[in-house]
Amino acid sequence: MEFSFNIPTSIFFGRGAIQRNASALVLGSRAYIVTGKSSGRVSGALSDVERVLNTHSIPYEVFEGVGNNPEVEQCKELGAKARAFGADFIVGIGGGSPLDAAKAVAVFAANDVEPEVLFANKYEHILPIAAVATTSGTGSEATPWSVLTWHKIKTKMSFGALNSFPRVAFLDPSYTDSLPLNVTRDTAFDAFTHCFESVISMKASPMTDAVNFYALSRFGKLMEPLEKGELDGIRDELMLISLLGGIGIANTGTTLMHAMGYPLTYFKNVPHGRANAFVLPAYLAELKNNRPQRLNEALHALGVSYEALVAYVKRCYPFDVQAQKDELTLWAEQTVAKNPHKTTGTSNDAAHIWSLYEMLF
Ligand SMILES: [Fe+2]
Repeated sequence: MEFSFNIPTSIFFGRGAIQRNASALVLGSRAYIVTGKSSGRVSGALSDVERVLNTHSIPYEVFEGVGNNPEVEQCKELGAKARAFGADFIVGIGGGSPLDAAKAVAVFAANDVEPEVLFANKYEHILPIAAVATTSGTGSEATPWSVLTWHKIKTKMSFGALNSFPRVAFLDPSYTDSLPLNVTRDTAFDAFTHCFESVISMKASPMTDAVNFYALSRFGKLMEPLEKGELDGIRDELMLISLLGGIGIANTGTTLMHAMGYPLTYFKNVPHGRANAFVLPAYLAELKNNRPQRLNEALHALGVSYEALVAYVKRCYPFDVQAQKDELTLWAEQTVAKNPHKTTGTSNDAAHIWSLYEMLF
């Protein structure tokens, strides 16, 4: 048996996490805050962060404007602004998009380089990052990964290495209390797929299994309340599963489901978690052939059958994407470029991936 496992991020979980652990947020003497257009304010997280920085007399600048699917070009501009301000640490507040953007800003603030250097993980320095989660889905607060839109190659591209893990993460479920049902469902499915794919991944280890099987067994109990929209009692659970999924994929990466979902987000504006739900039936069909034993173990932990999971997804996330057959060709080529055969054992052949997409229509 041989494996490695890393989670160098200090984690503070629970309602009031920032207030109770305020000094852990202070990673330097000047802060640049990166957050979404409204998520930082609406969740209450931004005011909690500002209160701590003011109490510690830390000068800071705030950028409130990261949209969905952040663009690498925007992160480069923000990095230059953070550098001009003299920031020596970054605070990311948000769901996946602002947190992923914050990681890129932390790189660009410390290195005046082009996106090619970022995506090749060839940069030399990175500012320390404090990550504050305001959704339960991405797990980005506990991973080194950052997924960004790069128009030059017409899709999403990711970077990440051991040094791009946030130094510290705060997970306060109260920031998610006001999230609407559709966002809660979409992000919850993202968290679920991180746990599920991390089990399936050929990079899974006993350490990631311990995390992910536990998370799947807890998620199985949340499927019914999520479907019924009964969210009051499950916000803390959802954030825990998001964290566990993040720890899983920090060590295994994602697999074919994420790779197939990205083009739906890039070309059809389908929210990330929902895009994963849309491709799940094709992913499961593929796993039946390539990873049958792991598939059965994951379903067993979840406590649902193959058929019940597909039916659940079709009820909660009705497929509504229109596409021409030639569009599928480009999607398949982009999926193949992500090399999902290395993690799912699928055939890395565009015609085969094309047939998986076609199954969905
Ligand atoms: Fe994801």
